[in-house]
Amino acid sequence: MFSKLIIYLKIIHSMTITIVGSGRVGASVALNCGLRELDDILLLDVIEGLPQGEAMDINHQLSENGIDSRVKGSTSYEDMVNSDFVVLVAGLGRKPGMTRMDLLNKNANIVKDVSNKISKHANDATVIVVTNPLDPMTYLALKTTGFKKNNVFGMGGMLDLARFKSFIHDITGSSRKSIQAMVISEHGENMLPLIRFSSIGGIPLNEFLSNEQSQEIFERTKKVAAEVIALKGATVYAPGNAVATMIESMKKNKKQVIPVSAYLEGEYGISDLCIGVPVILGSNGIEKIIELQLNEYERKIFDLGVTSVKEGIKFMQSEIK
Ligand code: 2OP
Repeated sequence: MFSKLIIYLKIIHSMTITIVGSGRVGASVALNCGLRELDDILLLDVIEGLPQGEAMDINHQLSENGIDSRVKGSTSYEDMVNSDFVVLVAGLGRKPGMTRMDLLNKNANIVKDVSNKISKHANDATVIVVTNPLDPMTYLALKTTGFKKNNVFGMGGMLDLARFKSFIHDITGSSRKSIQAMVISEHGENMLPLIRFSSIGGIPLNEFLSNEQSQEIFERTKKVAAEVIALKGATVYAPGNAVATMIESMKKNKKQVIPVSAYLEGEYGISDLCIGVPVILGSNGIEKIIELQLNEYERKIFDLGVTSVKEGIKFMQSEIK
């Protein structure tokens, strides 16, 4: 009877968030998910020792915080079986001076290989792609896994809007709690911070900012990741938090409106492409894509993003099923 109970508890406990890639961003995702008590977490990597070491370190923090979510480190992909969520962080990161698109060639093979392993070992999972260039890599993961489009999407816009919010706070001095912001399009050179769809306490942002100030934070939001990378080599904490927010919205069926890189089939007049758009995230993954009425200026930038992502996808055509 007692042993049956243990087996039953083990089955319940196999509900796991798996993070493929245990570098600084992967570890930050694990820590943020752990701190929010979202589930048990599996950190995977091909480098023996790294995921195990990160798992130990994070468990020590969670232990002191009285949190019972457990983190396990492994180099064995079989361990991801039954995962509800797989976060795909594996691949090379941006180095100072690089754009995200510069990583296309190197990361496509890795993302394809990991996606095949996900479909083999965790074919009921929702996959969140973080590897850059984000939008083409999300498309590649979607096509390679063959999973439903509401269950494969990329984390980019949530991170971009965190940065946008930070600049809005700096320039207006308003509480960060009162700030709502939206950033869509490519997670890359053609990112689109949407001043018109951002607000402070529900009051449109342009009531608080001059045109020059709006333009300034628009540009800085696009470039600030490169600044961080030049200073410390990588962006770490904000990406980890953004992924945890997305998983929390799905696990708790919160239905938060969050921009993600989503597969479009006619929305925004675009088909067969992944790009950042606002969606509702609930227990079914993407439950709805929200179509914003963009003005001429916004639409122009969005279309530049579409063109850039299309070129990226074309470049790695041989990798796509
Ligand atoms: C970021 O925006 C590098 O895409 C990554 O932080």
